[in-house]
Amino acid sequence: MANNLLAGKKGIIFGALDEKSIAWKTALACHAQGAQIVLSNAPVALRMGEINKLSELIGAPVIGADVTNMDDLKKLFEESMAHFGGKVDFVLHSIGMGINVRKGKHYTELNYEWHQKTLDISATSLHRVLRTAWELDALSEWGSVVALSYIAAQRVFPDYNEMADAKALLESTARSFGYHYGVRNKVRVNTISQSPTRTTAGSGVKGFDAFVDYAEKMSPLGNALAEDCANYCVFMFSDLSRYITMQNLFHDGGFSYTGVSQAIVDTMMPSGDE
Ligand SMILES: NC(=O)c1ccc[n+]([C@@H]2O[C@H](COP(=O)([O-])OP(=O)(O)OC[C@H]3O[C@@H](n4cnc5c(N)ncnc54)[C@H](O)[C@@H]3O)[C@@H](O)[C@H]2O)c1
Repeated sequence: MANNLLAGKKGIIFGALDEKSIAWKTALACHAQGAQIVLSNAPVALRMGEINKLSELIGAPVIGADVTNMDDLKKLFEESMAHFGGKVDFVLHSIGMGINVRKGKHYTELNYEWHQKTLDISATSLHRVLRTAWELDALSEWGSVVALSYIAAQRVFPDYNEMADAKALLESTARSFGYHYGVRNKVRVNTISQSPTRTTAGSGVKGFDAFVDYAEKMSPLGNALAEDCANYCVFMFSDLSRYITMQNLFHDGGFSYTGVSQAIVDTMMPSGDE
């Protein structure tokens, strides 16, 4: 499906860890639609080496940056602009890390140092990215920034733990910075709230498989796949979505507005109880 929707556009994609990553699929989809890309990830992720395969596939340089480090981000944007020979048209923030989740700490017993780190990596980092771009005047007019979120920002999913708070902050930052960047440069900032998706970050959530099955049964269209999320990102980076900004956009097969589905009712009924 190559319509050249992103012909001539240049973007930075954060967060491609391996081929399951939403960022990985988005990089492939953007490349297929004619975009030029710079890939970025944390130094520890680069050491895994998987990203080099993607880099070769789409001819994109990899520039490491810990998204909590302002010097790294400045270097990334400066080097990206030098590589592109101009400004950046789109950015994908596809980054998440729950330290308490990883270490098995229950939400009621958060270690606050870890929690600060979680919020910094998963949410404040969007502010850091936008501020770096703002200070370097690195984004083109009508540029588009997308960060990935999850519905636990609005509704309780107990095992999502502290990441729910991180996503709420992420969505708020997209709105707040989206206002200022819209006024100054017509830059758009949105979050996409994606269905549960089997990736490395996703699998870190306790009971993830049950989670995915439940969402599948609750969504009239079923769970949205990573490939479809990638296509939605392409649309958001394209000129077809120019007046969409400061939104949290559900990409979840209808899950967010479904109260209960027949498929879930069926699982609750004792057999023979029709
Ligand atoms: N998988 C799901 O079910 C799901 C659902 C909704 C939203 N999301 C969101 O999608 C985004 C991408 O996650 P994914 O599911 O593709 O998993 P993933 O594990 O492939 O991607 C997470 C990325 O964050 C990067 N990262 C972590 N710490 C970093 C740091 N300090 N600096 C720079 N990068 C860092 C990792 O290296 C990794 O590439 C995350 O924001 C996640 O919360 C995922």
